[in-house]
Amino acid sequence: MSRETLTITDNRTGKVYEVPIAEGTIKATDLRRIKTGDDDFGLMTYDPAFMNTASCRSAITYIDGDKGILEYRGYPIEQLAEKATYLECAYLLLHGELPNKPQLDDWVRDITHHTIIHENVKKFIDGFRYNASTMGMLISTVAALSTFYPDAKNIGDPENRKRQIHRLIAKLPTLAAFSYRHIVGMPFAYPDNDLSYTGNFLNMMFRMTELKYKPNPALERALEVLFILHADHEQNCSTSAMRSIGSSRVDPYSAVAGAAAALYGPLHGGANEAVLRMLQDIGSTSAIPEFIKKVKGGDGTRLMGFGHRVYKNYDPRATIIKKIAYDVFEVTGRNPLLDIALELERIALEDDYFVTRKLYPNVDFYSGLIYQAMKFPVDMFPVLFAIPRVSGWLSQWVEMLEDDDQKISRPRQIYTGPARRDYVPIVKRS
Ligand code: CMC
Repeated sequence: MSRETLTITDNRTGKVYEVPIAEGTIKATDLRRIKTGDDDFGLMTYDPAFMNTASCRSAITYIDGDKGILEYRGYPIEQLAEKATYLECAYLLLHGELPNKPQLDDWVRDITHHTIIHENVKKFIDGFRYNASTMGMLISTVAALSTFYPDAKNIGDPENRKRQIHRLIAKLPTLAAFSYRHIVGMPFAYPDNDLSYTGNFLNMMFRMTELKYKPNPALERALEVLFILHADHEQNCSTSAMRSIGSSRVDPYSAVAGAAAALYGPLHGGANEAVLRMLQDIGSTSAIPEFIKKVKGGDGTRLMGFGHRVYKNYDPRATIIKKIAYDVFEVTGRNPLLDIALELERIALEDDYFVTRKLYPNVDFYSGLIYQAMKFPVDMFPVLFAIPRVSGWLSQWVEMLEDDDQKISRPRQIYTGPARRDYVPIVKRS
């Protein structure tokens, strides 16, 4: 009869251990029993970058990287992208179920009610230089919000948490748009609470002198879909940062600032910006073979927007984004970089280097082209990732706080430095 256990023989001692298997996993701490003697700490696992370590149990997002499946709380991303709104998805991620009509109305009202930021935050934004990065400004101003809401420290109170969640989801677009207006030297455009979440964001970004800004419905919907696709992606770098920082029981503004900082890197949320710069550098379809040669040459050049730690198939978000790119280009005109991107994809998908490594386009490959066509500056692309991702970070944060298995995050290390030695006075050092 089969047993849900793993039998391990330690060849150093000849001892045999039986370790339980649950949900296809063994507990790393069960290995600590495996020792060579009383002064041995016990066996550890070495797993830099968490290549094969589950850091939590989660009921939020499901990914099957081999099949290219992504689901929020069991709902396929394709259905959500087609039928839902971003705020509906944010509610789903946070509450576990889709809202009914009264729940959705209350939720939208609660978020809308918090879109305005304290006037002092504007002064803070004004202090940044004219060429500051909008993502840097967003990270800093989100962190600064913790000083405006000191009650947010009370993370043990679910009602209090709820209030901070409303504030964060509501205020991120305002902070982002105000940061942009500061850079371009335009007066801040205040939130218009008659508009949808994405419609209002477009209003705060692009309103000029008109009394009432009317977002283009196709662009408003395209942004909504992009926000849905970016809302959560289980234990990626920024989400792990959110959980790890949050595990110290810091307030959620500080934790979100840390998660956003993790997102900023070019291997994560900064990739869509890197894709656009790459396409601009390539310049024309005729230069693609040379570029591919460089990527394969091993000098560290990467085909940005390709490859994923989890997806070893086409990223399902990339399929949806590619489709909506055409809806957007119908309104804005075709982005000339699209032809380079399409040809690059075609060549890469036929090339042995990419095929054998299972490198496919990811969410960032086409999103930058859409953002650029919608007149968002390239520098803001990571910001456009951070705004929707905040609902995912907060869902994961709440799940972590309510999980009795979780403690302060604290990995182990294998010490490789010198053995104990005595201090050498400076005159005796070589
Ligand atoms: N271009 C060229 N080669 C690549 C690429 C790429 N984009 N991605 C991976 N490889 C190669 C890599 O050199 C390695 O080859 P070898 O086995 O010969 O050393 C192999 O494929 C495995 O790569 P890895 O770096 O071990 O894979 P990883 O899981 O650590 O990295 C990744 C995942 C996303 C960081 C990486 O694929 C990458 O750098 N992609 C480009 C940046 C990018 O588009 N990032 C956005 C990710 S999706 C948005 C998000 O969730 O943040």
